[in-house]
Amino acid sequence: MPSSDKPSSDQPVVIFDTTLRDGEQSPGCSMNLSEKLEVAQALVDLGVDVIEAGFPITSVGDFEAVSEIAKMVDDATVCGLARCREQDIDRAWEALQHGSNTRIHVFLATSAIHREFKLRMDKDEIVRRAVAGVERARNLCDNIEFSPEDAARTEIDFLCRVVEAAISAGATTVNIPDTVGYATPAHFQRVIEMLVNRVPNIDQAVISVHCHNDLGLAVANSLAAVEAGAGQIECTINGLGERAGNCSLEEVVMAMRTRNDYYGKDTNINTQRLVPISRLVSGITGMTVQRNKAIVGRNAFAHEAGIHQDGMLKERSTYEIMRPEDVGFTKTDLVLGKHSGRAALADRAKALGFHLDGELLDAVFADFKKLADKKKEIYDGDIAALIEQRNTQV
Ligand code: KIV
Ligand code: ZN
Repeated sequence: MPSSDKPSSDQPVVIFDTTLRDGEQSPGCSMNLSEKLEVAQALVDLGVDVIEAGFPITSVGDFEAVSEIAKMVDDATVCGLARCREQDIDRAWEALQHGSNTRIHVFLATSAIHREFKLRMDKDEIVRRAVAGVERARNLCDNIEFSPEDAARTEIDFLCRVVEAAISAGATTVNIPDTVGYATPAHFQRVIEMLVNRVPNIDQAVISVHCHNDLGLAVANSLAAVEAGAGQIECTINGLGERAGNCSLEEVVMAMRTRNDYYGKDTNINTQRLVPISRLVSGITGMTVQRNKAIVGRNAFAHEAGIHQDGMLKERSTYEIMRPEDVGFTKTDLVLGKHSGRAALADRAKALGFHLDGELLDAVFADFKKLADKKKEIYDGDIAALIEQRNTQV
């Protein structure tokens, strides 16, 4: 794909991590204060730009977490969530006020379904409340994000109207949530393009996107939005979040890093910290990472098939588009199993201190294939035993 087809900008895409807020809303994933502080520090080390630390009005625990993280962190913006209600906004600011680099994030649903069944408000009332919420927050803090919840299912004319009003009221970031993971990439890209083209004051705010993964499209939708002009992506470690989760930070970041030729955009993320933080969050929340999860799963850089292993041993780029070291793994894993070939067996034997070739390699390889048909995984100890057994026979 020629890179000249895509608009290029040196400005990195802002990574807004909401593991501690939307991620924590995942059933069974709540974290205590010291766990949240540990994750917040790991997010700073990872290089995220914004940490959404919680929703202060919801509980004393959330309030304390936002407050302590705001005081602890200087190298990222710390954000607290609030509905467009006075008590929420004031409580969010109370939690954030002692921090050096803070943002209030206010939200209000805008889709017809939410207006009619949840809020029972008409369009004018929504605009009035959104403006009042942003103005109140802006009187407290210079950095304000506004989210029209369920934006992806909101009529586009009304969405444009709300976004324009929120920016006029002082929002510095406008976040477009696909709250229920309903969008598809082409659809979501069009939504962002329409906002760019129709909202007259859009260049006074950063456009952000916040995609849920109900159709498995959160990462694809976020990338499509970046192509249309979004400058911030909201995401979580391991894609943690309600239902099927949120846009996975590690996937979206590595897509932009690996396909920089296409997107022409990168992030500030120190990608070698991806695997360590994935393990930290998984350990704390108890949400195990599936083995074949892109980027951070145990199999993400494992190869078992003989043809692949042979290619990898000759030149790793034959079957790897990223280097495992770049995401925090120590090395590629050439797993020995029934699909593996001679080259991988000889290579593993060499690493274990044995030299295998000629008839000895043929014999050990035959033994190995018999064993691999019975066992799911072959360990180094198994290989050593097979070789030693053959060696004693000669
Ligand atoms: O999914 C959503 O709409 C949200 C908002 C609060 C941004 O999490
Ligand atoms: Zn969300």
